[in-house]
Amino acid sequence: MAIFLPCFISIFLILPSFITAQTNKNITLGSSITAGDISSSWVSPSKDFAFGFQQVEPGNFLLAIWFNQIPEKTISWSANRDKLAPSGSKVELASGRSLILTDPRGQELWRAKLSGGSPAYAALLDTGNLVVSKQDSVILWQSFDEPTDTLLPTQTLGQGAQLIAPYSEKNYSSGRFSFELTTSGNLALYTTDFPLFDSLNTNYLDYESQGLGFQVVYNQSGLLYLVGNDGSILRYMFSEDQASEHVLYQRVILEHDGVLRHYVYPKGSAGWSVKSFAPDNICTAVMQRTGSGVCGFNSYCQFRDDSKPHCLCPPGYSLLDPNYEMGGCYQNFPSQNCGNPSNEKEYDLKVLISVDWPLSDYEHYQNVTIDWCREVCLADCFCAVGIFEETGDCWKKKVPLSNGRSDVSVDRTAFIKVRKD
Ligand SMILES: *[C@@H]1O[C@H](CO)[C@@H](O)[C@H](O)[C@H]1NC(C)=O
Ligand SMILES: *[C@@H]1O[C@H](CO)[C@@H](O)[C@H](O)[C@H]1NC(C)=O
Ligand SMILES: *[C@@H]1O[C@H](CO)[C@@H](O)[C@H](O)[C@H]1NC(C)=O
Ligand SMILES: *[C@@H]1O[C@H](CO)[C@@H](O)[C@H](O)[C@H]1NC(C)=O
Repeated sequence: MAIFLPCFISIFLILPSFITAQTNKNITLGSSITAGDISSSWVSPSKDFAFGFQQVEPGNFLLAIWFNQIPEKTISWSANRDKLAPSGSKVELASGRSLILTDPRGQELWRAKLSGGSPAYAALLDTGNLVVSKQDSVILWQSFDEPTDTLLPTQTLGQGAQLIAPYSEKNYSSGRFSFELTTSGNLALYTTDFPLFDSLNTNYLDYESQGLGFQVVYNQSGLLYLVGNDGSILRYMFSEDQASEHVLYQRVILEHDGVLRHYVYPKGSAGWSVKSFAPDNICTAVMQRTGSGVCGFNSYCQFRDDSKPHCLCPPGYSLLDPNYEMGGCYQNFPSQNCGNPSNEKEYDLKVLISVDWPLSDYEHYQNVTIDWCREVCLADCFCAVGIFEETGDCWKKKVPLSNGRSDVSVDRTAFIKVRKD
């Protein structure tokens, strides 16, 4: 039996417009949200941002802040990217404690590390910043101080703060690149020592701040710049104008492929578009002494017109994980047997133009011909790839190959050893 209780009450509330609209939406002590409970989230006064759980794989949730009024529900911050919360997990603003995320068994997964004092309320501001405050409104913790991969307008990045790229397009856990202002005042894009993240690796875009960097500012007009110790603007990260009034939303994100991108969401548009990005060519920018480079081991990187790096396997190699392009490639044929020199004739060389794997070489010859270079690799059971340059230089390369790149600027020919048939 169905009971209908029609409700024809329309309430028109004429509210005075407060300039500080965000302060009128306090999240009170004891409030909580449960993962898997679709309807519950905490929304900013403008409704532009929401805080709650987003399911990122079946049964597992990210405690996150997202753009709430666009179909993509793009995530701008998350608490537990490296420790997903199972269905039934709960985040609570616990009285006398903090904002705490626990799994269904009550195990703590994450908590906001308050700067001291007891929380009185929390609020999700219209900027996308989640704050936990004391009774006197002094902020004890804010999500803007602990960015994940994204900066929002009005957010700053101080010395020692960083953005860490997600691992892949669909996996939000901490990945292989970071954008960091070091405690010594230098700003750069770095490769991380994944999966540890406790020391900086190679930098692949240095903003040459000479230790003068004080903070990175992403201001309300959408300009990203580095401010020096003396308060002056040392440099802009992107050479672009500030956002026009046609822009609805914007964000800066260090993406899984190591590219720092400035996205805008124009009013009335169907999605985000890239306004600027850096570095110009990630494939040629990254050169690591240890580590695989942008792409995984044995693959090579090609920067295409879509402004994205694409990771390719050379002939005779296949992706380790067919669903993860950046994961590297394996040799899909048995290697040449050094104990059996006669099996040399079972191998052949395939040619790739304008491809190179710098730093993977174990021998270098000068003043040789292309044919000599070819033969010397074919005859050497250790040689996986031969590289020839018109200058007469020839290199023998060993696996796993690293820093692979394919670019018109690469003046070299690669001979890839493969097994015949
Ligand atoms: C939010 O909570 C603080 C502390 O209790 C209080 O001072 C402030 O007036 C509250 N704001 C609103 C709009 O309720
Ligand atoms: C995401 O990537 C990390 C790092 O490789 C891995 O440990 C984790 O299992 C991945 N998560 C998913 C859901 O695939
Ligand atoms: C952002 O910075 C630019 C350049 O310094 C400045 O012209 C602009 O007025 C700033 N916008 C705001 C809202 O402060
Ligand atoms: C290469 O050969 C030329 C001509 O024989 C010679 O002048 C030059 O010094 C050689 N270069 C090297 C690096 O051996």
